Amino acid sequence: MRLRALGAGLNADRLEIYPRITPNSAAYRTSRAACGARAAKMAVMIISSPRDFREAARRRLPRFLFDYADGGAYNESTLQRNVTDLADVALRQRVLQGCGEIDLKTTLFGQQQSLPVILGPVGIAGMYRRRGETQAARAAKAAGVPFCLSTVSLCSLAEVARAAGNQHLWFQLYVIRDRAFMRDLLQTAKALGVKALVFTVDMPVPGARYRDAHSGMSGPRAPLRRLLQALGKPGWAWDVGINGRPHQLGNLEPVLGKASGLNDYMGWLGANFDPTIFWKDLDWIRAGWDGPLIIKGVLDPEDARAAADIGADGIVVSNHGGRQLDGVLSSTRALPAVVEAVGDRLTILADSGVRSGLDVVRMLALGAKGVLLGRAWVFALAARGEAGVAQLLDLIAREMRVTMTLTGARRIADINRSNLIQSVR
Ligand code: GLV
Repeated sequence: MRLRALGAGLNADRLEIYPRITPNSAAYRTSRAACGARAAKMAVMIISSPRDFREAARRRLPRFLFDYADGGAYNESTLQRNVTDLADVALRQRVLQGCGEIDLKTTLFGQQQSLPVILGPVGIAGMYRRRGETQAARAAKAAGVPFCLSTVSLCSLAEVARAAGNQHLWFQLYVIRDRAFMRDLLQTAKALGVKALVFTVDMPVPGARYRDAHSGMSGPRAPLRRLLQALGKPGWAWDVGINGRPHQLGNLEPVLGKASGLNDYMGWLGANFDPTIFWKDLDWIRAGWDGPLIIKGVLDPEDARAAADIGADGIVVSNHGGRQLDGVLSSTRALPAVVEAVGDRLTILADSGVRSGLDVVRMLALGAKGVLLGRAWVFALAARGEAGVAQLLDLIAREMRVTMTLTGARRIADINRSNLIQSVR
């Protein structure tokens, strides 16, 4: 009977099989209206723009996961400004520039990639789709762009390397109290042939994410609330909740053991990030990692100079997607001064607020050499798995081609501040 009721929820006409609900009865009309609304919600979404994935992900995910990715710190004002400041960057339209074939290829840290985009590190991405990090890494590999695995991922570095190879594999490391553990992770990354190390420095303590307490990611009776939400999203529950196991954080298994899961994740972040770290402490990382070292989470020109002084190869101008200190500058506003300070010493990448190919070109025009995506790829992954991430990268490439044609830039190296309307900025 339960199963039949579930079926009725999917198809209003099936309600007629229930003897006490007859066609034209008030109960029938009410049920039919409710089913119609539900069916409209369940209708297959048309994904025509990179931003459509957000809504598709919202429909598929339990609320705690959607809000965890979507939300930011405190009032989320920096999160919003990341998006609005970037949207305000006005490009100079140029016509009849004879652009012809647009070339999106670029070389970052000695490696050629098909477009100047990186799938940036996102924690617990494997909760958004079954073995999500491997799916995203495969899509990145097929598209010819780097995938940067987060320390706090479900799939371990070894699992991702097995699934997608190491040609475009980057690894992100946090400043963790347990230096021996960090050393081990660095060794593993080296042994697996990781191409670049991204060292995140803007999370010595986790930012206050108030949305998480409301959504069940943290807060009172969080496990129970998460379970109830999961029951309401059967597609996700089957794919990730049941078939996406193990839910442990693959890279942390040596310290957390088999029991590591979502509760440990939040506890682990709070307890293990190291707020005492100073620039000088990064010397041993530089000494222990001979590949490209990228410092992620720099907004200030003085910090950018310090990163160059310790021998970093690159930085990511980032406010962690507005998830750390609300009220700081958007990456869009911070980027020009950082480029001015160290553009000749470091490869400057940027993230935070980038939702489209048009946004990628804007960041490049402001001086970034490459752009990291975060929420954009996680929502694509949640919505459609590997195919979703592939579609997102394709949409971004298409948008970039149109934008470059209409700004008169045929190659990535042609994009610079001359593409901006300075008076509007
Ligand atoms: C982790 O990096 C997070 O922003 O939650």
